[in-house]
Amino acid sequence: MSRLSGQVAIITGGNSGIGFATAQIYVENGARVVIVGRREDAVAEAVARLGSSAVGLIGNVADLATHDRVTALVAERFGRADIYVANAGGIRIQSSVDVTPADFDMQFLANTRGTFFGVQKMLPLMNDGGSIILMSSIATHKVLDGHAVYAGSKAAIEAFARNWALELKERCIRVNVLSPGPTDTPILGKLGLPAEIAPQIEEQSAGMIPFGRMGQADDLARAALFLASSDSSFVTGVNLAVDGGLTLA
Ligand SMILES: NC(=O)c1ccc[n+]([C@@H]2O[C@H](COP(=O)([O-])OP(=O)(O)OC[C@H]3O[C@@H](n4cnc5c(N)ncnc54)[C@H](OP(=O)(O)O)[C@@H]3O)[C@@H](O)[C@H]2O)c1
Repeated sequence: MSRLSGQVAIITGGNSGIGFATAQIYVENGARVVIVGRREDAVAEAVARLGSSAVGLIGNVADLATHDRVTALVAERFGRADIYVANAGGIRIQSSVDVTPADFDMQFLANTRGTFFGVQKMLPLMNDGGSIILMSSIATHKVLDGHAVYAGSKAAIEAFARNWALELKERCIRVNVLSPGPTDTPILGKLGLPAEIAPQIEEQSAGMIPFGRMGQADDLARAALFLASSDSSFVTGVNLAVDGGLTLA
């Protein structure tokens, strides 16, 4: 398989879950990848697993200096970029009455501001005909308990995608959104819930999903491969739900 032969892809949050699975499938398809994440050990381990086609960069996407460092690295190593996956994101599941300004900022700074400026800073380096993929969530369309702030932070990036799809039409840079449903990744363990609750949540989620199972990171990675490759060369401005039909239920 070499659907991305010789292409350069940047994947934020590429050390874990959906981002790591996407980095893996891109490398398998001939791409060179830059993965961006906060935890030094996790980024180093991911790069070791991905092999010599991968480079890691430690940084917080909420901090705009991170994006300057990413663009400097891409310019120096590769000169140009073909694919940008704004995947890094965080969530706090809580009732709106409990949301503190810090909870709100954590989600909007990483999910929304991090996506906007990550794309803005990469654009001068993107090849015409490139592909930008933004990781949203089905929570923007389906109301889920405790997801108001998270859904708002992701809804904004869906609006960015529609605007950018037209702003970038002269350069034939395609901009699309992927919206996962509940997907089995380490994100669940980061919610601060007691470990024994996790299987319950997984069972509940699977029960709600028409296909009867949670998504796997690879389900999203294969959709991210489609949106990155020339198989989707006439697709821009779409929001692709990868959710086993949950949005419909
Ligand atoms: N899993 C789901 O059910 C689900 C559903 C809908 C949408 N999504 C979205 O899918 C994307 C990937 O999530 P996942 O499930 O794969 O979770 P994950 O395994 O926890 O991965 C999240 C990745 O984002 C990185 N990240 C988070 N905040 C960051 C920040 N401020 N700066 C830099 N990196 C940051 C994490 O880095 P560290 O490991 O260093 O923290 C990690 O690499 C997220 O945008 C999430 O909102 C997930």
